[in-house]
Amino acid sequence: MHRSRTSFVHRALRVARLVGPLCGLLACKREVDPGPPLTEVTGVSAVLSDVARDPNVVEVNLVARKQSLMLGPGLSFEMLTYDGLFPGPLLQAKVGDRVIVHFTNHIGAPTTIHWHGVRVPDFMDGSPMVRAPIPDGGSFTYDFVVPEAATFWFHPHVDTAYQLNHGLYAPFVVHSPLDPVYDEERMIMLDDLAVDASGALLPELGTYTDQVLGQLGNVLLTNGRPSELAVVESAEGRVERWRILDAANARTMQLRLTGPAHFRVIATDGGLLPTPYTTSTLTISPGQRYDLEVSYDGPGTVQLESNVTLNEVDGGVFQGWKPVFVANAVATGMPPRTIGWPDVPPIEERTPNRNAAIDFSVASDGDGGVLWMINGSAMHTTPLYGFELGDTVDLTLTNYSSVPHPFHLHGQFFTLMDGGTPETQLPGLRDTVLVPAGLSMHVAGRMDNPGRWMMHCHILEHAELGMMAEITVGDAGIP
Ligand code: C2O
Ligand code: CU
Repeated sequence: MHRSRTSFVHRALRVARLVGPLCGLLACKREVDPGPPLTEVTGVSAVLSDVARDPNVVEVNLVARKQSLMLGPGLSFEMLTYDGLFPGPLLQAKVGDRVIVHFTNHIGAPTTIHWHGVRVPDFMDGSPMVRAPIPDGGSFTYDFVVPEAATFWFHPHVDTAYQLNHGLYAPFVVHSPLDPVYDEERMIMLDDLAVDASGALLPELGTYTDQVLGQLGNVLLTNGRPSELAVVESAEGRVERWRILDAANARTMQLRLTGPAHFRVIATDGGLLPTPYTTSTLTISPGQRYDLEVSYDGPGTVQLESNVTLNEVDGGVFQGWKPVFVANAVATGMPPRTIGWPDVPPIEERTPNRNAAIDFSVASDGDGGVLWMINGSAMHTTPLYGFELGDTVDLTLTNYSSVPHPFHLHGQFFTLMDGGTPETQLPGLRDTVLVPAGLSMHVAGRMDNPGRWMMHCHILEHAELGMMAEITVGDAGIP
């Protein structure tokens, strides 16, 4: 018995030795060093598994479909999901990787995926103006290289207010060899949902207020669950990276940290800052990301709090600071270690070589509703501006309305130009910026990615009601 098994193994090995050299010719599976594993990011529903053998390729399968989910007590909904999860699973890669996403749509309506913030080619960007949406039952393979490392996310760009609010969004983290090593990296995705007294989701544009302010939910969510359930364990002395995303349709959030911890801002939409900065509160608007480095100075309860007005389901109004993420730090007697800051290349100063005005305004639609407009029109059928590849454009963003608008540009980053206020002196590359009511601000757009690109308000109800336009960069030129 023993003997025959041994000879079987030997025979198998001999066969393998003979077949081995053929593998190169026949392209059989070979073991490829997958490289060191990517830093784990916690707080996510799942991580998309990479089926590529090449360590510089991330290849995943993703399905969008309807799914009934219970998010918390009394919060059961028929949702739209990526892979049955809400929020969808984490997509992660290293900077420079090629990312291949085999996507199948089963949501019962057309959809696309927009890789918010990632400078992909325009025909991979999920814009329905550039490529027809994927019909229900259809598939499409997104295939692109990730040129920057940062905290990104992905979501549809068709019927966006509805599809995103019903669950279609997911985190996308691109790691960099420059990333400092932390005791933990956490994803913190902030959102809200509007639920009626019967426990059903309210339509996104059901009321006049929804049209004016966008839909402000009455249930705060963190990582897809009621925020009061977002409680984790940590320890005195630890230093963590918190990757924060505002995934709400309309709610801009003002955040602060209470308890025995302190933080600094280490990254914006476009990745690590050359020099982190400290602040007591942080304003994050829909679409934006900020990465914080949080150091636990002592044992106790550390709370990330959001300053909110909530019209509660029972008719009450809550106004004030609500915890949206809580970390209980056990005592260790250890002080937080100091994180040596890596040599992040400075963001190259660029002097704009041209100007473009982008105005936000509102009008009546003549039927009791509102139209949200860019440069006086809610219906742009052709791109508003055509820029040359390499232009740095002074985009003058002027808000003639009494509601702030988070302006989002696809395909390129911009930096804030110093307007003399603390809000306009913030560093870092961005793809989304909040333009305050009644004010004008300047951003320097770096038109480095050729193509036809959307720009819109990231209050998704505003975008739906017209606050949407396009620009072109390079050869795409205005027809
Ligand atoms: Cu996150 Cu055009 O969107
Ligand atoms: Cu808006």
